Amino acid sequence: MADLVNLTIDGVPVSVPKGTLVVDAAKKIENDIPVFCYHPKLKPVGMCRMCLVDIGTPKIDPATKQPVRDEQGNVVIAFMPKLTTACTTPVSEGMVVRTATEQVRAAREDILEFLLTSHPLDCPICDKGGECPLQNLTLGFGPGVSRFDYDAKFHNEKHVPLGDLIYLDRERCIQCSRCIRFQDEIADDHVLQFHDRGRGMEIITFSDPPFDSYFGGNTTDICPVGALTTADFRFKARPWELASTQSLCTHCPVGCNITLNTRLETKTGDYEVKRIMPRQNEQVNEIWICDKGRYVHHFTRAEDRLRQPMIRRDGRLVEATWEQALQLVGERLKAAGTSVAAVVGDRIANEDAYLVAKLMRALNGAIGMSPSVPAHYADVARAFGVGMHTNFAHLGKGDVILVVNGDVEEQAPVWFLRLRQAVVDRGAALVIAHSRSTKMHRYARAIHRYEPGYAAQWVADRSEELIAKDSLKDARNLLIVFGDEQLDSPSARALAQGLANLLIATDHAGNADSGLLPLYPHANTQGVFDMTMGTESAAASNGANGKVRTDARGSILDSQFEMAWLIGVGDASDAPSAGFTVVQELFMTELAKQADVVLPALSFAEREGTFTSGDRRVQRFYRALPPLGEARPDWWVAQEIAKRLSHNWGFQGPLHIFADLARSIPHYSGLSYEAISESEPQWPPMGRGDLYYGGTVYDNTGGLGVRYASDAERDPAGVRPYDRVVPEPTVVGLERRPRPLYRDGELVRRSAVLASHIVPAQEIA
Ligand code: SF4
Ligand code: SF4
Ligand code: FES
Repeated sequence: MADLVNLTIDGVPVSVPKGTLVVDAAKKIENDIPVFCYHPKLKPVGMCRMCLVDIGTPKIDPATKQPVRDEQGNVVIAFMPKLTTACTTPVSEGMVVRTATEQVRAAREDILEFLLTSHPLDCPICDKGGECPLQNLTLGFGPGVSRFDYDAKFHNEKHVPLGDLIYLDRERCIQCSRCIRFQDEIADDHVLQFHDRGRGMEIITFSDPPFDSYFGGNTTDICPVGALTTADFRFKARPWELASTQSLCTHCPVGCNITLNTRLETKTGDYEVKRIMPRQNEQVNEIWICDKGRYVHHFTRAEDRLRQPMIRRDGRLVEATWEQALQLVGERLKAAGTSVAAVVGDRIANEDAYLVAKLMRALNGAIGMSPSVPAHYADVARAFGVGMHTNFAHLGKGDVILVVNGDVEEQAPVWFLRLRQAVVDRGAALVIAHSRSTKMHRYARAIHRYEPGYAAQWVADRSEELIAKDSLKDARNLLIVFGDEQLDSPSARALAQGLANLLIATDHAGNADSGLLPLYPHANTQGVFDMTMGTESAAASNGANGKVRTDARGSILDSQFEMAWLIGVGDASDAPSAGFTVVQELFMTELAKQADVVLPALSFAEREGTFTSGDRRVQRFYRALPPLGEARPDWWVAQEIAKRLSHNWGFQGPLHIFADLARSIPHYSGLSYEAISESEPQWPPMGRGDLYYGGTVYDNTGGLGVRYASDAERDPAGVRPYDRVVPEPTVVGLERRPRPLYRDGELVRRSAVLASHIVPAQEIA
């Protein structure tokens, strides 16, 4: 345990680890020292002076080196001649801090009075109004009147675009440098800087393109005034009009915890997502989200969302009632017998995928995942994935992070932030093997290269060298991040197996803070695999029918069925051919246009459920918007179809379905909505009323989620290395391009603010 230091703050004793700053020690006992420039996730700079307090330390006798005592035997405290900044002063033994003296009160008043001399006071039209630290601290600690002449206010440019996603109001900036420090220290995108001096000092961006970062939205959360606003939200709503719902981001394997802020729009009479904000989960995303997660929400109320079931009549898709559509699907399913395949995408919830698989098992049909989804190695990732109690915050000196064939920033942006800190701030060694360069290469201790498509061969051939030269064997913990770009399914599987073998050979399999971390494309790749192909009965059912062959992409694409039921699979290349096709989607995709029945699905914002992140954390999301039109959740559709085939399950909703799946899927046994909904106090404590300490991040009341155990943890005695299989790369593999964050797709395309950032498929390197 870290050395503890004892001190008192306003007479209250507190013990904190050595090195803790006074401001954080005070926070521990809920003594909120006001701050502007200090942020608990950034290095202190002591720029604003808002945190001035009175600090004393025991007077030491130079002769004895012991504390001097008064006549009553009390230690004599020597106070500093002037007030001290609590944000830059570490605690020391016996320290006495006073935050409520007349001198401190007067200092706070002075600082606020001074800050307001150059502040425009346009709170009524400022986006930060209602959640502004400057407003709140002025009310709490500011002077009632100002001695400065209002007309002498310094004016500066407003609405300055810093790139196309963030706007700066120069007058409102209080020059705290939180935005600059976030970009430098956390994102490592050095795109902002101060320009000029004195009252004319202003924030500028000097990158080309301007404010070139995937993480810029976070600066608007931690800016303590309305100087930085997003192009997406500015002038759209006031904070007090917004309802907040705890949710999850669906766009990469990280599973960032988010809050959906929604409002009833008088124009449309419908609710809308107005903005997406981070929700604190120190195990997952801390308090950060990437800009894709923040801005991609517009698809939820896009004009062209499917709102009504459709069935094909005389060659055309026409609107139908649910009863008509379900009746038709039920009849065709009965007629198809066992010649039916359900294919699911990896964005749907666990509860949806589970019920679809349950029905397929009951019908002795086939179940598969969309071929663009890397289901072919999800079992390896589950067997040797990171240990249950892994926390990236633990990684540091003595640990090795090995990244193979993956681009962490593009494919899991917040993992990039967290792993980079483990390397740069805490001294973990980073070893990278890739056929091209990525941003992560900046921090690598060792870099290895191979020809595109040859990742699995490279690992198989170089394992011993890696273990010896790159010290994998001696590593305290070994975290292996890997991706599947330019690999076909057999090669990607071989790579995962080769990396699992590395864990076994170095005695890291099944350890906390060690294991595989797959860069899956979406939030629920692992979960959908677990619910469908990852169950023993599914594998047996597919195999027993003998109907399912897999091509080089690991899909059931080339199989023939009487009927195909495609749920959230996206584009047309994902369809097995069938005499009758049912598509369940948010939009009229190319695939849906060719279907016989199209069923409108609900987005994640309009229903509840669970996702399992790439590191196997099962987390809950909640309903933020009312259902759109006649659209229904996928689990409901599965249950209604089942009913028409005489399977009356009677599930009331996701909670009951989850209880059923936890009983039948061994990896999920013991999990429940209650368990994954549990929260505990986070450190540093943010998302509460005192917005000035951490920014506008939301508190986590919806649950921190639970990571289920890997196979290596469940059965350590059963751990065996995989046989060495290294298939030659195929053209299909080489065509599987890298996945940039803003790759074109049905969802991102509907966010106008991101339009200029979208990378069309043909331009992906
Ligand atoms: S823009 Fe905001 S975060 Fe950046 S220096 Fe100004 S007040 Fe601070
Ligand atoms: S890092 Fe991933 S999960 Fe987090 S906000 Fe970005 S896309 Fe969403
Ligand atoms: S100087 Fe301490 S918060 Fe700014």
